[in-house]
Amino acid sequence: MTDASGELWAGRFSTPPALEAQVLGRSLEVDRQLVFEDVAAGIAHVGALVDAGLLSGDDAVRLTDALEQVRSAILAGDFAFDPADEDIHSAVERGVTALLGDLGAKLHAGRSRNDLVATDVRLHLLGIQRTVVADLRTLAGVLVERARAHAADPMPGTTHGRAAQPITLGHHLCAHAWALTRDLDRFAGWRTRTSVSPLGAGAIATSTLGLDPAATAERLGFDRAFENSLDAVSDRDVLQECVAVAAICGTHLSRLAADLLRWTDPVLGWAELDEAYSTGSSMMPQKRNPDTAELARGKAARITADFVTLGAMLQGLPLGYQRDLQEDKEPAFDAIGTLLNVTQALSGGVATLRIDTAAMRAACRDPALYATDLAEALVKAGAPFREAHRRTGELLKRLDAESRSLRDLTPQEWETFGVPGGDALLDPDASIAARPGVGGPSPASVEHQCDALERLLALA
Ligand code: ARG
Repeated sequence: MTDASGELWAGRFSTPPALEAQVLGRSLEVDRQLVFEDVAAGIAHVGALVDAGLLSGDDAVRLTDALEQVRSAILAGDFAFDPADEDIHSAVERGVTALLGDLGAKLHAGRSRNDLVATDVRLHLLGIQRTVVADLRTLAGVLVERARAHAADPMPGTTHGRAAQPITLGHHLCAHAWALTRDLDRFAGWRTRTSVSPLGAGAIATSTLGLDPAATAERLGFDRAFENSLDAVSDRDVLQECVAVAAICGTHLSRLAADLLRWTDPVLGWAELDEAYSTGSSMMPQKRNPDTAELARGKAARITADFVTLGAMLQGLPLGYQRDLQEDKEPAFDAIGTLLNVTQALSGGVATLRIDTAAMRAACRDPALYATDLAEALVKAGAPFREAHRRTGELLKRLDAESRSLRDLTPQEWETFGVPGGDALLDPDASIAARPGVGGPSPASVEHQCDALERLLALA
């Protein structure tokens, strides 16, 4: 190219961009994902131009056909992109103009890539978010289903990563499901703030052409149109919020993965990941590695990093479109795509997880798990809790020194301690049943939680 005639802004220029400036400016590799939305926005804009009396019905049909042809060609890989196609918006417009000549050149009236890109990205994220939400609901549903099946199966609950008190596996699985319901709620709130169409805002100041942004918003399925054209083209808070919600959710999934990794550690042997969610080692023939869970744990880092990338790019930018904003799509698409991938893989991993309830129950034989129950038995007999805690601690210390455990106490020793028949308390089922309250680990509470979660998930 020897002049600037290939560029959208050729009139004012006599020299084309330097090659390295062109390379720096190109976003096509990332924003070609927006082709579907770009054409949809183009068709809606054609409607606005017809309503404003700037295009005939016949023109509109031809422009719409051309936009659809360009979309099909791009999706089929048949579209000849030009080095001057800076982004998907310029490529689509050039494609339409190549098909229709002067009529194609009417498409961009009253429109800017500034309002167009903001519109496309919102539509794109709203679309992907539907899939993410459906898949998160699936994962939460799998957790609830497995929780219900294990409502009465005891496992040692841990604090500080060490055995603490018996709970049920169902209770633990429900805890992960509850976290996901909050993510679903966050995504639902995000949706209402995102379903606002920027199209018609133009470059910054709308246009003199009498376009109706509300009608355009309706054509595109948005809830409403922008309230302020400068805000519409400048802000990227909906991307930040989407990535923030994805980062929180990714953190939840990472922690679920960490639990899976712990339970499936052969040293513990409480569960086993299905082969379909494991890999072998290139060198050690015996290995079966839990890669799916490890990656689910590790991928959360990049979603959080995407949030940081977006915030760092945006902070300090004055209002109005700035080319810096072009950097918004890569982190946003990466975050939501990563979340989707992790959610789907974990659903399969949890659904096919083989759980060894007998091993979990056997781990509940550790009598130390019941120390708190003993202290509370003393409290029920009238002791102040601090004294009960100290007396139980002293008993454990003495038993330790004698190389005995709570299971070795004689009926007489239980009497002396102040909890007659105390050995009946060293039992996971008894311990769990003694906590029937709402929100606790008992089988009844887990059933109740599962019912509540199912109701919420059907609504979410
Ligand atoms: N590729 C650009 C982006 O993603 C589109 C908007 C370009 N606008 C402009 N005035 N150069 O942000």
